Amino acid sequence: MTRLAICADLLDFTAEPAAAQPSDAAVRFRPAHWLLVEGGRIHSVQRQAPDAALWPCVDRSGHLLLPGFIDTHVHSAQMPVVASWGAQLLDWLNTYTFPAEAALADPAVAQASAQQFVRALLAHGTTTALVFPTVHAAACEALFEQAHARGMRLVAGKVLMDRHAPVGLCDASLAQAERECIALIERWHGRGRIAYALTPRFAATSTAAQLQMAGRLLAAYPGLYMQTHVAENEAEVRWVAELFPQARSYLDVYARAGLLNERSVLAHGIWLDDTDRAVLRDSGAQLAHCPSSNLFLGSGLFDWAQARRVGVKVSLASDVGGGTSLSMQRTLAAAYQVQALQGDRLSAWQLLHTATRGAALSLGLGAEIGCLEPGHIADLCLWRWASTDLARQRQQQAQPLHERVFAWLMLGDERDLVQTYVAGQPQLPQRAESQPC
Ligand code: GUN
Ligand code: ZN
Repeated sequence: MTRLAICADLLDFTAEPAAAQPSDAAVRFRPAHWLLVEGGRIHSVQRQAPDAALWPCVDRSGHLLLPGFIDTHVHSAQMPVVASWGAQLLDWLNTYTFPAEAALADPAVAQASAQQFVRALLAHGTTTALVFPTVHAAACEALFEQAHARGMRLVAGKVLMDRHAPVGLCDASLAQAERECIALIERWHGRGRIAYALTPRFAATSTAAQLQMAGRLLAAYPGLYMQTHVAENEAEVRWVAELFPQARSYLDVYARAGLLNERSVLAHGIWLDDTDRAVLRDSGAQLAHCPSSNLFLGSGLFDWAQARRVGVKVSLASDVGGGTSLSMQRTLAAAYQVQALQGDRLSAWQLLHTATRGAALSLGLGAEIGCLEPGHIADLCLWRWASTDLARQRQQQAQPLHERVFAWLMLGDERDLVQTYVAGQPQLPQRAESQPC
């Protein structure tokens, strides 16, 4: 069995950090420890260097070793439209996003796009993602192939749309969309580390019949996920109310179609009311908070504190291309700022936990990823504490661990990344400085 030992500052969580003041109770920091990996899983953690004859050693003391980040909502075909100027959601979709996604009708484009996207995720320290490809089954297939070839945990599904989008982006018929979903589910769901998510884009681009078909499949196949968007933008919310006058709310459109359960991930959720929040809590569905996207598209300020009070599960997501970076550090920094604007100060522990152990638990993957725990899959990222002069100066000044990690989150990005490991396998080209000892 392949073995590897890495020495670094190990940081992960043993419980959910408290919401009020930064408290280290749930934080497990093991500076200059060796993490041993065997057969793709974490074998053990120890202070002493292992026998180098038995364990190939990578000594990166002074670096930070974290569980790989989990991005719970991102669009693989939207990298080419990141940072498109001047539009709110509905115009942005029509002007930039739909044309970009239409290009993936060409399987060669879909193939190249999937390859670039998976590489980009790993180059930003994200080892697990919930991904919207496009409506094209071949684009979804290409994405699964890229992730599977690397042994990556990835959740995705072909996007479902049957109205209010260009013809080339709409499913030809209900029956064909259902057949394509079933073929992809049977080929990919549970293969290696791939899971299938029914992926109705949002209520405005699916008929009630299409949403119901997705609900039927969700009930028929155990372990499927469901991902969609909800209540992101006020004009969108008004439009959905016109399209589904019988529904109590935007969220209720999905509830009526049987789309809410503990493996449902709904992006944004800014414009929800208390009844919606109670429905989310009771169904176990989670909101994927997309702070950089919400700021960039001018969608609104998600009230995380309110969701927490009600007991709604919340994870964090880049939402590229509405979001402006695949970096989860940048996403966490934006999340901090959005809460600060509402008088709530998130600790570095809450932020980091949400993007690692918290997301793993809310996706039902807590026994596999999110922690540096023996038996977990070795999805890991090795980071520098600082890569810019500003961040270096800040790190020299910062003393308690919380301050160091908070500064790292606020000032850092993918430039800090030294190596990403998926099931113990390095994914990035080794730089000279990161050769094994
Ligand atoms: N709502 C429906 N489609 C999309 C999308 O691609 N991005 C975002 N941010 N919101 C959406
Ligand atoms: Zn999105």
